[in-house]
Amino acid sequence: MCGIVGYIGKQEAYPIIVKGLKRLEYRGYDSAGVALMNGTLNVYKKKGKVADLEHYTDGANLSGKMGIGHTRWATHGEPNDVNAHPHRSGNGRLTIIHNGIIENYAPIKAALQKEGHVFVSDTDTEVLVHLIEEIQSKDDLALEEAVRVALSKVVGAYAIVVMDAQEPNKMVAARKASPLVVGIGDGEYFLASDATPIVEHTKQVVYLNDEEIAVISLDKGLKIRTISNEEISSPTIHELELKIEQLEKGGYDYFMLKEIYEQSGTIADCMRGRLNAEEGWIKLGGIDEYKNRITKAERILIVACGTSWHSGLIGEYLIEDLARIPVEVEYASEFRYRNPVINENDIVIAISQSGETADTLAALEMAKSRGALIYGIVNVVGSSIARITHAGSYIHAGPEIGVASTKAFTGQVALLTMMALAIAKEKGTISESYFQQLLNEFEQIPAKVNEVLKCDPQVKYISKEIKDSPNALYLGRGYSFPVALEGALKLKEISYIHAEGYPAAEMKHGPIALIDENMPVVVIATNKSAYEKIVSNVQEVKARKGIVIAVVTEGDKVISDIADYTIEIPDTEEPLTPLLSVIPLQLLSYHIAVMRECNVDQPRNLAKSVTVE
Ligand code: F6R
Repeated sequence: MCGIVGYIGKQEAYPIIVKGLKRLEYRGYDSAGVALMNGTLNVYKKKGKVADLEHYTDGANLSGKMGIGHTRWATHGEPNDVNAHPHRSGNGRLTIIHNGIIENYAPIKAALQKEGHVFVSDTDTEVLVHLIEEIQSKDDLALEEAVRVALSKVVGAYAIVVMDAQEPNKMVAARKASPLVVGIGDGEYFLASDATPIVEHTKQVVYLNDEEIAVISLDKGLKIRTISNEEISSPTIHELELKIEQLEKGGYDYFMLKEIYEQSGTIADCMRGRLNAEEGWIKLGGIDEYKNRITKAERILIVACGTSWHSGLIGEYLIEDLARIPVEVEYASEFRYRNPVINENDIVIAISQSGETADTLAALEMAKSRGALIYGIVNVVGSSIARITHAGSYIHAGPEIGVASTKAFTGQVALLTMMALAIAKEKGTISESYFQQLLNEFEQIPAKVNEVLKCDPQVKYISKEIKDSPNALYLGRGYSFPVALEGALKLKEISYIHAEGYPAAEMKHGPIALIDENMPVVVIATNKSAYEKIVSNVQEVKARKGIVIAVVTEGDKVISDIADYTIEIPDTEEPLTPLLSVIPLQLLSYHIAVMRECNVDQPRNLAKSVTVE
């Protein structure tokens, strides 16, 4: 959470920083601020979005060829002007931006207060800048040395950038468990939480590693040392593949809608070079090296959060159904704190769009330390999770900017489907003919996604009918159960309607008590197996006068007759249905949120990349 931008070079820093902050606003939008070096340090910060900051700085002195900026998702201290970053040291000499949490801020603060430091905000970040000041002034250290010593006393996660008014040509940045990227331009340098603010200026980037400190100045360039003071003599320079168009709305009202519509292409990108139905093969590069270990695994653990956890559940159904390996799906946040049994025979799959989710990262580190093989299914190239895994596969969905995950979900499910099929083929757990049938159908999925998207006007119409309901239930069985969970999450996170996903048969053990003529019940009824059972579940809802919105397979007559509204999706093999059936649910939540005048791309209290535990 929180977005960081820094610039040093020959251009004016402010416009570059503000544009970069807008690109990072998906990471948090409680407050924004900038600090500009121009002989003296000028700091401007404001509660609200980056646009509020721009308004606030109208007419101010914004010149300076070096500066830092921050967009905040509040952890310590409410979102207000004072708690906004950048924070300044007591002597006014230093200024800092920070993403992460300083866990031991309280004892450090108490010790600093004893030394006479006075704090103005409620943030953990302010403690860090005072600590750097204290160390710097006591021993008259250079900025980078004071930062290094201060960080060795800190427990927690951070990506920071610090400037010192007495060293006006230098920026010092560091990271631990929070991402930070350095962009290398022609006589200029950029810093950011991810590459999106950097790509329009340069394609050359260095991803800082944990516990590395970057010192950037125009005369000496980029120098990197570790917190334990070892020099990193030749950091690896990566070439960005990101394109600017991927970061624009491209005519859509919201990124979320654009991303929903991109799914035919993103699923095809995920499959490209990995699957060929005509020649009858599936090949996942990431698996190859560990093929033996994976196919012989006695169990697979999947760790993830939120939407990625839902795709993990579909992964469980797929891998157990097709490859016959027992799978357990864990909330990453619970996994590491419940002393799970993990050993060197286990395969742990981490699923993460951002590749930066703190809980998932921490769960992986624990599993890795216990000898498990760690496999990553990640979207953001070069992200922390992608870099700590033994092996993995990118889903190639491109930047997902809407806070509600859509195309990353279908990318993850597509990847898990290929994985299950690849293992099944290797183990011989499904027949050759079924394998071929699934490949043939899989190749049709991108075209079928385009077919599904044609339901958009109808979904918009249905949205109008239910947009004022305070609650909604989502029901599904088998492969459609995790889809129900995902549909409910999409609705609640962007439209603030309370929604629950349930296995359809579980409804009669409790939630059925909620059903009356005011309760919309979305039923994902695309199953071929247990079809009659889901018909019964729909009858049970109707008998209690619930409003049924059913997602069915085209040509379905039975449920269409009972439900109030039906949305048809093309027929496909059952293990592939989640890739299609989730799309009407994404559209439903989108239209309802728009009708309720919610900010679809930046829902309240949320941030795209949850880099705090
Ligand atoms: C919901 C959503 C979140 C994320 C979760 C995990 O739409 O986006 O629930 O899925 O925060 O994030 P990643 O996948 O980046 O680890």
